[in-house]
Amino acid sequence: MANPESRVTIHMAASLDGFIARKDGSVDWLETSDEFAGGRTLDPGFIESFLATIDCYVMGSRTYETALRFETQGFGWTYGDKPTFVLTTRDLPRKRETVEFHRGNLAQLVNERLRPAFRAIWFVGGGMLSGECLRLGLADEVRYSILPILIGDGIPFFDKLDRDVALHLAEVNAYTSGVVELRYEVRGRIAGTGE
Ligand SMILES: NC(=O)c1ccc[n+]([C@@H]2O[C@H](COP(=O)([O-])OP(=O)(O)OC[C@H]3O[C@@H](n4cnc5c(N)ncnc54)[C@H](OP(=O)(O)O)[C@@H]3O)[C@@H](O)[C@H]2O)c1
Repeated sequence: MANPESRVTIHMAASLDGFIARKDGSVDWLETSDEFAGGRTLDPGFIESFLATIDCYVMGSRTYETALRFETQGFGWTYGDKPTFVLTTRDLPRKRETVEFHRGNLAQLVNERLRPAFRAIWFVGGGMLSGECLRLGLADEVRYSILPILIGDGIPFFDKLDRDVALHLAEVNAYTSGVVELRYEVRGRIAGTGE
């Protein structure tokens, strides 16, 4: 049964032209050197307490493979000890007990498994899974962190949206790093558009 207090958030960082990775999957451009004097500073204590409010993560297999690569390169596992659900049809390496693999019906996973058990459910990419999440009407909120860079081409934030999705701008924050974070509430899909 759905938990009315549960909330599905899609969060990713993207270039100003709307890409979450280059075509080859690289995210080297995520580190930028911009400075915005009027921006907010993110202190590590705030980040830590904010991350503590997230109850579980959901991601596509390609994002999982990127996370594993980062770990191999010595950057650690980004998702702490939070339950992490990975969508895949393949047999991928399972390196920690908090990771669970799923295939198939995403709506069933979210509505029957995740919503009853977790309040803050975070979809953290990639574009393919985020598109599926929105197409199925599963997301309550979209958090879009725009980096001060244009990369020209790449993997889009949302893959293959088949209709318009109306949003409500709920929050805007600009940081000293030049990153702007937009938080939108999903008002719903607009029937009949894009078909
Ligand atoms: N900038 C950011 O914040 C950010 C965030 C996340 C990711 N990224 C980048 O984005 C790239 C990955 O994005 P992406 O759009 O290519 O891929 P993705 O969404 O991470 O993964 C797509 C894969 O997920 C699996 N999948 C999706 N829905 C499924 C379902 N219902 N059932 C079973 N499996 C399902 C399929 O994998 P199988 O083929 O295994 O079945 C599919 O190929 C990476 O380069 C990553 O680094 C960037």
